[in-house]
Amino acid sequence: QGLHSLFVASGKLFFGTAIDTNNFDDTAYQTIATNKNEFGLYVPENSQKWGPIEPTQGQFRFANPDSVEAQAQNNDQIFRCHALAWHSQLPSFIANGTWTRPLLIAALQSHITIVMTHYKSRCYSWDVVNEALNDNGTLRDSVFLRVLGTDYLPLSFAAAAAADPSAKLYYNDFNLETIPAKADGAVRLVKLIQAAGVRIDGIGFQAHLTVGGTPSQAKLAATLNRFVALGLEVTLSELDIAHNKLPASARAVEQQAKDYVTAVGACLSVPKCVGITVWQFTDKYSWIPSTFPGKGDACLFTANFTKKPAYTAVARCIDSG
Ligand code: G3I
Repeated sequence: QGLHSLFVASGKLFFGTAIDTNNFDDTAYQTIATNKNEFGLYVPENSQKWGPIEPTQGQFRFANPDSVEAQAQNNDQIFRCHALAWHSQLPSFIANGTWTRPLLIAALQSHITIVMTHYKSRCYSWDVVNEALNDNGTLRDSVFLRVLGTDYLPLSFAAAAAADPSAKLYYNDFNLETIPAKADGAVRLVKLIQAAGVRIDGIGFQAHLTVGGTPSQAKLAATLNRFVALGLEVTLSELDIAHNKLPASARAVEQQAKDYVTAVGACLSVPKCVGITVWQFTDKYSWIPSTFPGKGDACLFTANFTKKPAYTAVARCIDSG
């Protein structure tokens, strides 16, 4: 038994993890990552983003994400794809280019079309637009917003829908779980896309949460259900729950387990929550300490690959839920 097989037994599609080729030659890591009972889905942590995959206009580097996909296929794991239109990790030709509206539309459409066509019918879902919102719910400044205004949102989803009819098309963002004004902004964003007559299928709640700062299960479920009410499916797409202070006290370790159970319980309680993906399963490769020095230990496994109380609590919660 593992998290994925338990989650599937409770009616969900997947319990997955972020992973990338820089993790591949770590055998202790791979023993866990290739166990599909544990993780039934992969999302490439970095290699499918615009900067890594199209560093120079029109020149694509598919080798790394292809090998993530190959490992997923070998293990009969689902492949989640991330991310197309995002203000971060852009190649400099996009970020620093001088763009007219028609040229940027062409570059955006061709990026989406070529990348999605390469993975056609092999991605469960694509994060078509990532992190377009500020925490106050307004649209975040980016080259896309500056040059194209809000049109870049339906334009991106329309290009994605045309490129791969079988992939679920997602909007993905963080802090939607904790900041109601940002969730309001995401509701407006979904309505804008739907009003343009363009397909959007799901919302990825990144769920980069903090120990003690995780909303109650009922609140979390209510936020997910706001988007279900718009006709969408939802997922926790990048779950991790960071300690604010390290080393974590025994009490904080227990709280982390409770907070993980809260997040997983919220997904279990919402039928349209299709699954959960953790943003790495071991503290060894978590993004948090380099971005927020002094914080972290956010994953289900320690840096030495032992299961934390959070792991045990999540497994028990799924098994009994
Ligand atoms: O690949 C280069 C390497 O060649 C170079 O030597 C090294 C030196 O710094 O940098 C490497 O690139 C780093 C990359 O991760 C791959 O390891 C970047 O500096 C670093 O900024 C990048 O961080 C990633 C971050 O996104 C970038 O925004 C994290 O690994 C990744 O976990 C994180 O993931 C994001 C999601 O995509 C979207 N949601 C938030 C989440 C956490 O920030």
